[in-house]
Amino acid sequence: MPAMSAVERLFCQSSAWGWFAGRLVLRWALQGRPLRGDVLELGAGGGAMAKETMRQFPAARLTLTDVDPAMLAALSRRLGRVQGAPLVTADATALPFVDGSFDVVTSYLMLHHVIDWEAAVAEAGRVLRPGGLLVGYDLVETRLTEWLHWADGSPHRLMRRGQLEGALADAGLETTSVRYDGWYQVVRFAARKPS
Ligand SMILES: C[S@@+](CC[C@H](N)C(=O)[O-])C[C@H]1O[C@@H](n2cnc3c(N)ncnc32)[C@H](O)[C@@H]1O
Repeated sequence: MPAMSAVERLFCQSSAWGWFAGRLVLRWALQGRPLRGDVLELGAGGGAMAKETMRQFPAARLTLTDVDPAMLAALSRRLGRVQGAPLVTADATALPFVDGSFDVVTSYLMLHHVIDWEAAVAEAGRVLRPGGLLVGYDLVETRLTEWLHWADGSPHRLMRRGQLEGALADAGLETTSVRYDGWYQVVRFAARKPS
């Protein structure tokens, strides 16, 4: 089931986004945190971040998920011979994993496409082990981000400034950092499940 417009799906699969996201955005999003242990990526899309994650953190045991099977197929093509991570078609609001399955859950630029993104944050909290980390980034509702999605036509529900902090707390996660960048267009976040 496509969650994005054809234009945005093509963009996420493009080499340009793959290069930019992989080389620059991953490091920025993680804010220097290493990825270790069992790592779940939500809405992995075309695999831009996944490919670079495998390169930078070869010891991480990565599970890649997306609600759209076509995006997972594109991801599989991008990984090519670097395969090795399970690819699972999964809705981030109803993950097919038992409680406490992962050390880290990553979410890069996907929550605003989930619509009920608070439910995805809650699911991330559920599948994390005690002491586990949710880390990622997303867009914030501004005139520019709303206009971009209106023009593109993808279904979306952008979080407003300050909403994420409440959703993290409701999910039982302790916020480690929430940083707004680019004049509040984007937010980087990290939150830990109490041990
Ligand atoms: C803008 S793309 C980002 C892809 C990738 N994370 C990246 O940074 O390149 C958003 C992705 O989230 C996926 N997505 C949207 N709603 C979802 C949901 N409810 N559960 C899982 N994935 C979802 C879309 O199919 C799409 O692949």
